[in-house]
Amino acid sequence: MLGRADNVDNQSLRGFLRMVETNYPDELVRIREPVNPRFDMTALVFELERSGKNPVVLLESVAGYDMPVVTNVAANRRLLAACLGVDVRDLPTAFRERCQKYIPCELVAEAAWNEVVIEGNDVDLNKLPIPLQFSVDGAPYITAGQISARDPVSGVDTTGFHRLMLKGKNRLGVSLHSRRRMFEFHRRAEERGKSLPAVITIGTHPLHYMGSMVYAYPPNVRKFEIIGGLFGEPYRLARCGIEDLEVPAGAEIIIEGEILAGVREPEGPFGEFTGYASYRSTQNVFVAHRIRMCGDAMYHAVTSGMSKDHILVSCITREGEILNALRRNLPNVRNVHVPHTTCGAFVAFISMKKTADGEPQMAIMATLGTELYTKYVIVVDDDVDIFDLNDVMWAVATRVRAEKDIFFIPGAKAAILDPTSDPENFTVTKMGVDATRPAGRDFAERLVISDEQRARARSILEAAGVKL
Ligand SMILES: Cc1cc2nc3c(=O)[nH]c(=O)nc-3n(C[C@H](O)[C@H](O)[C@H](O)COP(=O)(O)O)c2cc1C
Repeated sequence: MLGRADNVDNQSLRGFLRMVETNYPDELVRIREPVNPRFDMTALVFELERSGKNPVVLLESVAGYDMPVVTNVAANRRLLAACLGVDVRDLPTAFRERCQKYIPCELVAEAAWNEVVIEGNDVDLNKLPIPLQFSVDGAPYITAGQISARDPVSGVDTTGFHRLMLKGKNRLGVSLHSRRRMFEFHRRAEERGKSLPAVITIGTHPLHYMGSMVYAYPPNVRKFEIIGGLFGEPYRLARCGIEDLEVPAGAEIIIEGEILAGVREPEGPFGEFTGYASYRSTQNVFVAHRIRMCGDAMYHAVTSGMSKDHILVSCITREGEILNALRRNLPNVRNVHVPHTTCGAFVAFISMKKTADGEPQMAIMATLGTELYTKYVIVVDDDVDIFDLNDVMWAVATRVRAEKDIFFIPGAKAAILDPTSDPENFTVTKMGVDATRPAGRDFAERLVISDEQRARARSILEAAGVKL
């Protein structure tokens, strides 16, 4: 199934699948029974998630198509940690450190996606097994499309996911609502009266997915160099046929084209990461000129909505970016957690070993100044497990005095897709919560059961036949 058995590129989606199949076989589910491209994939992934499972899912047979679909590639912290070779709890720190080691890319002559080339009138995006994910979606959406383009001013390229609505055989609606580099590159091209040459890459390694989400880095650095930092070796790219743009040589499918200047068309609705239908969009249009793909290409879809596949990488990248910002000034910050439950964006938990009052407030301001999407920040002492929602809520319940520990910042810039943001200017009221104990004076003593006592209890229970 993974093809090219002896020659799987470790930087490719296939390389990742091979690693999962070999080292974590229980985390790969193959569905051989034909599935319907309308809704089956989403329902399968959400059912797995409800039962606490987050395996990669390979749909070997999709009715009406002869290409397999892989999804839920990035839904599992254990597998993402394995991509970086670290323990799950060290993931934000390892990610933050690695993505600051920019490694120049390697340009290679051969690309996996050069085996099949479709151009001109033969281009027909309807032939790709693009699933329809939610009943509210305006059309099937390409959800794992990494769009690459060059800054028309500096020539430095970028890569990032942007939702792509299937509108016709060579036409896709695109929303650049996160307003980061791609939005700005398109704005600069349009200002010069030009469309923006761009390539959509489908089917890349999860480290590409992760690295593409980084946003706080110098403008002369290529995102592909950050992804190289995550791989710990130069990222292998190959030139395609549009403006000599370079894309990962091991990708499954690429679509060459342009984001049109001066054209806006209705795009959406789409089932977004917030768990709501999104009707907000920048309404751009991508026109495809050429498709290239592997002879035995796999189609990759991110399961959208509030699934882990859609959100987990955002959680980890935000955790890394916030940690980066906090550690500059507050070395006593221990860790950051952006829980999936809060759409992987809107709430951040920070744990710190507080040495003086006022430090949580500094951490809250730095976080809100770093992460546009985050609107509530809760700071706890380092005896609280920020990866355990129950523990964080216990700290809020027992260490917060509302009149002095909760404060508001009205009118702050927020995510366009946040349903609470003002439809006129996308602002919200942000909130900081200091759930730490007061410094320099006695506070109520926390009850603890020692590790030794816990271990003894476990062995007694096991002997009594209780499965823990
Ligand atoms: C699965 C997924 C889908 C995304 N879809 C969009 C989208 O449709 N539009 C958008 O502007 N950002 C989207 N994002 C966020 C961008 O990919 C992210 O902000 C990225 O860093 C932007 O890259 P850029 O700086 O090259 O624009 C998505 C992120 C993920 C993980």
